Amino acid sequence: MTITVKARHPALGAEIQGIDMRRPMDPETLRAVSDAWTKHLVLVFPDQRVTDQEHVAFTRQFGEPEVFHQTSLNLRSDRVKEIFLVSNVDDQNRLMRPSEPSQKQLSSSRQWHTDSSYRLMPSVGSLLHGIEISRTGGITQFINMYMVYDDLPDGLRGQVEGRKARHDFSMLHRLTGAPPPTAQEQAAMPPVWHPMVRRHPVSGRKSLYISSIYNDGIEGMDDKAARRLIEELTEFSAQPKYMYRHVWEPHDVVMWDNRCTVHAVTPHDPDERRVMHRTTIVGREPVMAA
Ligand SMILES: [Fe+2]
Repeated sequence: MTITVKARHPALGAEIQGIDMRRPMDPETLRAVSDAWTKHLVLVFPDQRVTDQEHVAFTRQFGEPEVFHQTSLNLRSDRVKEIFLVSNVDDQNRLMRPSEPSQKQLSSSRQWHTDSSYRLMPSVGSLLHGIEISRTGGITQFINMYMVYDDLPDGLRGQVEGRKARHDFSMLHRLTGAPPPTAQEQAAMPPVWHPMVRRHPVSGRKSLYISSIYNDGIEGMDDKAARRLIEELTEFSAQPKYMYRHVWEPHDVVMWDNRCTVHAVTPHDPDERRVMHRTTIVGREPVMAA
């Protein structure tokens, strides 16, 4: 297989042609895709009409898929347990309202974050398959956090170097009004501390590592000041020069690196169906400080 790689934005994001996700990649192609991923951080694979099983099988070429620990909100597929549902349509094909618990929790994805940062070993990356896409919004925006780190003004840099931030899954319900995780779910995901500056195990580059929907504390700061700093860092990050905005076409699969990017989705008309299935690659090591 020969692939072509076309950058979509100078900061990050590239389109990959020449892949059929329904078939395994040969070692050379896998290496070429992995290299493109390291370079562009976000890869777009257009027109991939994959089943959930094929989506999971493709993901396995990069690592073990996560199984979402929370089952109380039906955000994990009953049929294929490695699939996380980023959808406003339920198993009975019913359009859900924004006031329903799962939709409240999913509304957090409109704020800048990186997936699964609340895990002791946070995920490597995610692959999102757009099955029914939005035309009224639902644009997924990505930020290159290497560039953000490189450009941090001294005042902000001094506050993040050598520091750890707390990442807590249960912050989602405090933020969105979704039901709290059950006692069992809470016990499975206690809060964790990760360096705010991390070094990427493949590229060797440093990036700012924050997740505004999970960070509720910073070492050596009271929680209010910590939240203010996270907000200030997030605002600095969200500049167009660091951002690729992905406008979805049906059956795009977008694969991003959770170690050096953050993302946020724009709102869309809640009367419009949006059905997207995600796999998330299990982290291989704890977050390394700079
Ligand atoms: Fe996300």
